[in-house]
Amino acid sequence: MNKVALVTGAAAGIGAGIMRRLAKDGIAIGVLDLTEERAAKTVADIEAAGGRAMALGADISDRGQVTAAVERLRAAFGPINILVNNAGITGFVPFLELTDEEWDTMLRINLKGTFIVTQVVIPDMIASQWGRIINISSSSAQTGAAKMAHYSSSKGAMIAFTRTLAQEFGEHGITSNTIPPRFVHNTEMSVASFERDDMREKFQAMVDAGPIRRHGEPEDIAGAAAWLASDEAGYVTGQVIGVNGGRYI
Ligand SMILES: NC(=O)c1ccc[n+]([C@@H]2O[C@H](COP(=O)([O-])OP(=O)(O)OC[C@H]3O[C@@H](n4cnc5c(N)ncnc54)[C@H](O)[C@@H]3O)[C@@H](O)[C@H]2O)c1
Repeated sequence: MNKVALVTGAAAGIGAGIMRRLAKDGIAIGVLDLTEERAAKTVADIEAAGGRAMALGADISDRGQVTAAVERLRAAFGPINILVNNAGITGFVPFLELTDEEWDTMLRINLKGTFIVTQVVIPDMIASQWGRIINISSSSAQTGAAKMAHYSSSKGAMIAFTRTLAQEFGEHGITSNTIPPRFVHNTEMSVASFERDDMREKFQAMVDAGPIRRHGEPEDIAGAAAWLASDEAGYVTGQVIGVNGGRYI
């Protein structure tokens, strides 16, 4: 089967790591990020390594932009049968200071964006009776996280969304699973959050508490995503696969 994956938020960090790993398995990749220019840098890496990839610019919370991007990918490489919903934003705001606008923006991008991309892509999977959906949630959804009510709620809803898709589309050969990362360092999000100077010490102590005493790498998440995307993982659905150094659920 010709395998085509759409990876959102793939210009940087975890998404770029997943994309590089899937390309090694011969999968053609749509690299979707906010702008085509941003996505183009990582496409060049894939092509240099002999893979097939295409840069797509779209805001995942804009249905028109997502539909146009998906149509371009389909026309270039064929129907999409692997979807990695990885794009997202984060934020740290004390609960009592959280505004309606901050709440709405977080839920619009992390949750509604995931809904839109999935709804636009899934007809391809139904048509071919084979599909893999991998949602990148967050360990904050499992444990809670102070000053992140909007973020952890959006990611918790992604876990429920993942399980619902597993129930609704299993009969079409489509699996739906989620990976909730913990501290994956050297991404744009980590540098702007837990690797900030005022947070680094507190979060380093959590990493040092183990059991595996290091930060996660994008490649750690990518390895699990590649397995979930494979034929071998066809009996695994509705699962939360913790790739987190062993700390949580
Ligand atoms: N880094 C971590 O420790 C960590 C922990 C838990 C969960 N996560 C989740 O993993 C995913 C990737 O995180 P990362 O650390 O690589 O972050 P990152 O900020 O480095 O990458 C996220 C990418 O998503 C893109 N993006 C943001 N909003 C978008 C939108 N509306 N439309 C299209 N693209 C958009 C950004 O441009 C960026 O390239 C996120 O969903 C994040 O919540 C990360």
